[in-house]
Amino acid sequence: MSQAPDAPLLAASPWWRIDPGTNLIVRGGKRLTGTYPISGAKNAVLPLMVSALLTPHLVTLHNVPANLDVAVLSNLLERLGVSLSWSNGRTGHSLTLCAAHVHPEQIDRDLVGRMRASILLLGAVLARCGEARLPMPGGDAIGLRGIDFHAAGLRAMGAYVDLTGGVIHAKAPHGLRGAEIVLPRPSVGATENLLLAAVLATGQTVIRNAAREPEIADLIRCLAGMGAEIEGQGSDMLAIQGGRPLGGAIHTVMPDRIEFGTIACAAALTDGEILLENARIDLLGAAGPVLESAGVVLTEVETGLLARRSAEGLTGIDLHTRPFPGFATDLQSPIMAMLATAKGASAITETIFEQRFRHVGELRKMGANPNAVHFAIRMAALKSMRVVGCGVRGRNG
Ligand code: UD1
Repeated sequence: MSQAPDAPLLAASPWWRIDPGTNLIVRGGKRLTGTYPISGAKNAVLPLMVSALLTPHLVTLHNVPANLDVAVLSNLLERLGVSLSWSNGRTGHSLTLCAAHVHPEQIDRDLVGRMRASILLLGAVLARCGEARLPMPGGDAIGLRGIDFHAAGLRAMGAYVDLTGGVIHAKAPHGLRGAEIVLPRPSVGATENLLLAAVLATGQTVIRNAAREPEIADLIRCLAGMGAEIEGQGSDMLAIQGGRPLGGAIHTVMPDRIEFGTIACAAALTDGEILLENARIDLLGAAGPVLESAGVVLTEVETGLLARRSAEGLTGIDLHTRPFPGFATDLQSPIMAMLATAKGASAITETIFEQRFRHVGELRKMGANPNAVHFAIRMAALKSMRVVGCGVRGRNG
């Protein structure tokens, strides 16, 4: 999560009420039961908010989640000249954005440094204004998180991109043009950034080896609502016919699959039963069967998914994180916490981010037995295998 924003930043987002630096105290040992309404997805709403920069018309988003990244991005967009108005309705928070005028020189360095997703401003501001200058984005310390794919894609579309001195400077004074882009890995952020740029570029852009995360499909649905022509939704090849003026859109943000995957683990871990309102099994990809094989029962009901532990209890499994439809890296730490209480050993391999086992030390402090979850980081791009720890045995194992 991003650093806590300062008081004026919080005040600008009226519904966001949490004291920066608050400690969370958890008194454990209880079965978790009840109904849990799933929020709009954080990873979907951020690119959706940025998409409003592509049009001078109104973009209204329903089911907007209340979190720090949304507060930070709201402030970044306001400083760029976008007007934002919030309302509360039956579908949660709604946000209407209007980017009638965009002032690209007003990107706030400090705010960009607080959130990795601010890199998404690059493609949209460049495409709309012909120039963008922003500091290297910050964000969670879970790995190197380069932006070389973003830069290479924009260069292929005719932009000049300079990355020296900790600042990204991109220029395309005569506009961007469509290009054939092959991503070295299916990066979520690069796919979104290039998609946002491509809808205003002249001609056809094809993005191969594109990421297939459901949040990208959600962005495509919103862009299509604005009048963009994009083929290949849900596949690893996207074809965008760019250059046509975009209108406004009204869009409901998809449910947060990381949130409901996490709460499903909590239900099973505590032997409780939770109705995950608005959750959908198809959004989990491989995580659905993986959770079930570990002993989490997910039953589809009319209003969402019912999550509980199977009668046989939790058992150790072997899992690898992968780009969607593989097991999401963002669900790796919650499932590890759950597997630390399972019967038998588990093996967890992280293939997306090289520093994503930082929670292991904390689980050990809480008594996870260091012999039963084996973990390895395998960076597919580097073709190397590095075993960083071994392991954590479930209490009953
Ligand atoms: C997004 C999600 C994050 C999730 C991640 C992987 C948002 C706001 N965040 O992050 O929650 O954990 O996808 O599902 O949607 N890479 C490069 N060069 C680049 C771009 C990426 O080397 O130019 C590498 C990264 O270091 C990483 C891998 O590609 O190893 C995947 O990263 P990416 O999919 O881009 O993650 P984010 O978009 O940052």
